Amino acid sequence: MTKIAIWCRHQGDNVIGIGPNIPWHISSDFKRFRRITEGQSLVAGEKTYESFPNRTLPNRKIFVLSFNSDYEVSDKANHFVVNDIKAFKDFEGNLFIAGGAGTYKAFFSNGAKLLPDIIVDSCYQGALDVHLTGEKVDITPCIDVMNKKFVKVSQDYDLDDILTTVWVQKGAFVDQAALKHIVKAIEDKKDETVS
Ligand SMILES: NC(=O)c1ccc[n+]([C@@H]2O[C@H](COP(=O)([O-])OP(=O)(O)OC[C@H]3O[C@@H](n4cnc5c(N)ncnc54)[C@H](OP(=O)(O)O)[C@@H]3O)[C@@H](O)[C@H]2O)c1
Repeated sequence: MTKIAIWCRHQGDNVIGIGPNIPWHISSDFKRFRRITEGQSLVAGEKTYESFPNRTLPNRKIFVLSFNSDYEVSDKANHFVVNDIKAFKDFEGNLFIAGGAGTYKAFFSNGAKLLPDIIVDSCYQGALDVHLTGEKVDITPCIDVMNKKFVKVSQDYDLDDILTTVWVQKGAFVDQAALKHIVKAIEDKKDETVS
């Protein structure tokens, strides 16, 4: 299995959300996320899952991380509740870790078998949406691990004030097909020209 963390954080403070919201709206960032994760399996924390429009992302299998064993998903054929993160230790295939902060932190702090192999690190360099109220959520502990245990393998991709780079875990075997898929999806901006 290849575990891939994918996020967009705010430069400097590593904020990824304010209350339930992402505090910027950059359409090319959502499109990049879609290109990378379409047709794939991903895990999202319950709060992030609740923030998806209609609690779904088309054409993706979603594992919802929640302590609530009675939690009801919106699409029982394609969405599954996972109560114990350890269940992902033996996951087959690619697994995209799509946040939020509690979910990233759980994967980064529960031992080598859950630590991502690859990180797609997008960094937003603009201003936060000042109209949002709620607590700021940041992923600084994950960025500290990234800087210590990962190495950057891609060029810098700069688009709409967002700098995206790809990192792999130092010394780990990384599936080249997964890496190739990610880089191709970042570079393939054909949907950017569609209005
Ligand atoms: N910018 C980005 O790339 C990005 C991506 C995704 C989300 N976000 C933002 O992140 C924020 C949400 O993050 P969040 O940290 O509040 O929530 P979250 O990670 O989406 O959801 C956390 C949920 O998972 C549960 N949980 C945590 N660890 C668990 C474990 N080991 N086993 C089972 N369940 C577990 C939590 O339960 P408890 O509540 O009981 O602890 C909670 O229900 C929002 O602002 C969202 O917009 C940003």
